[in-house]
Parts: sequence; C-alpha cells; structure tokens
Amino acid sequence: MEKIFNTLLDSFIENKVGIAEHFLNDALAKALKANLIALFGDNKLQAAGTGNNAKTGYDASFRGDHIYWLDRSHNNVHENSFFDLMDSFVKYLNETCYTGISSYEFHYTLYEKGTFYKKHMDRFQDNDSRKFSMIMYLNADWEEKDGGELCIHHEHSIQTISPLNGKIVFFRSDELAHEVLLANKARMSITGWLRS
Ligand code: OGA
Ligand code: NI
Repeated sequence: MEKIFNTLLDSFIENKVGIAEHFLNDALAKALKANLIALFGDNKLQAAGTGNNAKTGYDASFRGDHIYWLDRSHNNVHENSFFDLMDSFVKYLNETCYTGISSYEFHYTLYEKGTFYKKHMDRFQDNDSRKFSMIMYLNADWEEKDGGELCIHHEHSIQTISPLNGKIVFFRSDELAHEVLLANKARMSITGWLRS
C-alpha cells in the first residue's frame, strides 16, 4: 500500500487535495457496499445532520445523505479490514508528515437519487479536532450522466471529482469548502475524519 499512500500524499502536498485510485481494492469496496445496502434495507441509516451536538440540525435542502457509523465492535470482517487499512495509513501519515493524528471516525454514506450536499467546510465551529477529511467511493459503473460529483472550491478554481469506485479524496478539514452535486442515482461512500 505504501505506493498508493505516497501517490495520495504527493497529490495532497502538490494541490491541497490528495486523490488516489484503487485505494480500496475492488473486493473490499464491493463488500463495504454490500454492508451499506444491507444496513439501508434494515433501516439502520439516519439522516445526516449539520453542526455538532446540541446545535445539530437536519435540512435536506442543504444536505440529503444518510449515514451509519462504522465501529470495530460490530465485529464485521470487512469493516475491520477497512479499519486495519486506516490504521496503516495513519501510521504512515504520522511517520512521514508528523501529523499527530490520534483518532478517527468514519461513516457509511448513501446519497439517494436526487440528493446533494451544498457548499460547506467539514470542521465544526465549536470543535477543531477534525484535521483531515477522507472520502472513499463505493460506486462501480459510475457514469458522467450519474452526476454526484464532488466539487472542491479552491481560491481561484473549482475542482470536480467523480465518485469512482475505490477512489479516495483527502484534504484538510479546515481549509477547503466543497459540495456534492445532485446524484442521479444512489451514490455510496465511506466518509471520515482524522483527528488530533
Ligand atoms: C462530507 C462531504 C463529499 C463526498 O460528507 O462532508 O463533503 O464526495 N462529502 O461525498
Ligand atoms: Ni464535507
């Protein structure tokens, strides 16, 4: 994996947004997607909120995705291999970039057809523990007409990223505003934050 970690961090250093294809291998992406679909079928997903703690609000005209938090206590083999991968990435990141990441949080994310997430930043106003945002996509056979691009607002340009299977996007949580454009079919991912 070191080569992929390197690709990711090189593009992050170069362009503020790290991108690497096949960060999740096809088998893991497929298994995590199957988990997400099963969780959705069991009504386990919850509407994603905006803000933190008591200030959390729910507004589908701002953010329409549904989420479910991953946890090692679920004893799900695929979730655990995902966490193993995150542990090795965090170790690599801390060793090569002295980032001091000490914890993380990840959720499955489902954007049903017709949903989106308007322009926002990932760090909460009342809590600065989120250092890096990571999004990993679970969409085999995603086509341009399916929409759902991630748009990152740089100072002088907008970067458009399609949510292709296995791809990871990595950026500082306090630095770049971004949005998810309307998805024309179900769009799945794992989204998370590295904290210190
Ligand atoms: C988020 C987010 C982007 C994406 O969940 O905060 O911006 O591409 N997600 O899903
Ligand atoms: Ni975001």
